[in-house]
Amino acid sequence: MTTLLPSLPPQSTLLTQASQVLMHNYSPAPLVLTHGNACTVWDAAGNAYLDFTAGIAVNTLGHAHPAIIEAINTQAQQLMHVSNLYATQPCIELATQLTQLGRFSKALFCNSGAEANEAAIKLARKWAKQHKHPHATQILVFGNAFHGRTLGALSLTPKEAYQVPFAPLMPSVKVGVFNQTENLDTLITNHTAMVMVEPIQGEGGVNVATPEFLQALRRRCDETKTVLWFDEIQCGMGRTGTLFAFEQVEGVLPDGVSLAKGLGGGFPIGAILVNEKLADTFQPGDHGTTFGGNPLACAVGLAVLNELTQPAFMATVRDCGSLLHEGLGQLQVDFPQLVVDVRGWGLMQGLALAEDQLAVGDLVTHARNAGLLLVGAGGNTVRLIPPLVVTPTEIHHALGLLRSILGGV
Ligand SMILES: Cc1ncc(COP(=O)(O)O)c(C=O)c1O
Repeated sequence: MTTLLPSLPPQSTLLTQASQVLMHNYSPAPLVLTHGNACTVWDAAGNAYLDFTAGIAVNTLGHAHPAIIEAINTQAQQLMHVSNLYATQPCIELATQLTQLGRFSKALFCNSGAEANEAAIKLARKWAKQHKHPHATQILVFGNAFHGRTLGALSLTPKEAYQVPFAPLMPSVKVGVFNQTENLDTLITNHTAMVMVEPIQGEGGVNVATPEFLQALRRRCDETKTVLWFDEIQCGMGRTGTLFAFEQVEGVLPDGVSLAKGLGGGFPIGAILVNEKLADTFQPGDHGTTFGGNPLACAVGLAVLNELTQPAFMATVRDCGSLLHEGLGQLQVDFPQLVVDVRGWGLMQGLALAEDQLAVGDLVTHARNAGLLLVGAGGNTVRLIPPLVVTPTEIHHALGLLRSILGGV
C-alpha cells in the first residue's frame, strides 16, 4: 500500500490542475490523496498519513473496509438505482433497522446532511401549521450551530461569514445561547415550529450539550407542542460511543433526528428518522429527491450498521474514546499555556488551543507535516474524529505526534 500508483502525474501537477478546474470555495491541503486502508491514507507523492479526520466524521469503518467493498460490489451487480417510483429491499431494510434501533417510527432518505435538515424544516413546519398554530413557523437554533450550507439549512447556521453573502435567508429563525436554559420560555412559544440542536456541536468547536439543557428543551417543547429535533449528522452513527448520541442523555428522546456522514461510511447518504407523531406529515407530493433511498447507498448503510451493531463494537469505541480523551487531558496538563480545554464524547474529541499562542490552522499544518491529519473547528479547537475502527496503538501514535508538536511550539 505504500507504493506510488503507477499512472499518476506528480502531486504538484495535480494540485495545479485542481486549482485551475475546481472552484475555490474550499482551501484544501496541498495533498492529493490516492488510496487508503483502515486509518491510513496515502498521497500522490507516496507519503502515508494517520487519518484523524475520517473525511470529517464520515469514514466510520476507515478506508477500504471489506464489508463496504463487498456491499458495493454485490448491490451494484443487482440494482443500483430505480428512483422513488419503486421500493427496494435495501431501502426498506435500512429504514427498518434505523427506526428500530433509535425507537423511531418512520424514515426518509436523502443524500447529504444539509438535505436531511431541509427535510426536517419542511416537515416540522407542515406539522406545526396543522397541529399547533397556523403561524407556528419559527425555528430555534443555537449559537455556533452548524446545520448545513443549502439556503434553508444555512439559515439555521448562525455564522455571519457563512450567511451574509447569501442574504436574504429564510425568515423566522431565532438564535438562542447553547446550554443556556434560563430564557427558553421566551424563545420557545406558540409560534415555534421546531427547535434544532446538535447534542455535540461539531463545526462549532466540539461543544457538548449538557443533559440539563437537552432535558429543559424537551420539557419546554412538550409544554408548547414544539418539535424537538436533534442534528446527529456529525455526532451520530456511533461516533460518541452509542449509536445515537442522545442515548447518553437520560429522559430525552427527540421527535426527529437527522443523520448523514457516518451512515454511509464514505458513500453519500442522509436520512431523517421521526417518531409516530410526525410520521405521516409528508404526503405524496410534499417532498422528494431522485437519489434518496438509492439501493446502493442503502446497501452500504446496512453494511456500516451491521458492523456498528456487532456486540463489542460500541464498547471498543468508548474505550478508545476514553484513551484519546485522557491522553488529550494529559497534554492539557503538560502544556497549560497552549491547551485550554479538552471536550467530547467517544471518538469525537476537541482540543481547544489558547488563541494568542497557537492558531488551530498552524497545529493542523504541523500535524500534517508530521503525518497526522486533523481538522479544525470553531473556537480555535482542533477536532480529533478518527475512523471508529482506530486502534489504541494509533491513538498513542497520534498523541505522541501532538506531544512533540506542542513541545516544539
Ligand atoms: C451537524 C451537522 N449538520 C449538518 C451538516 C451538513 O452536512 P453536509 O455537509 O452533508 O450537507 C454537517 C456537516 O458538517 C454537520 O456537521
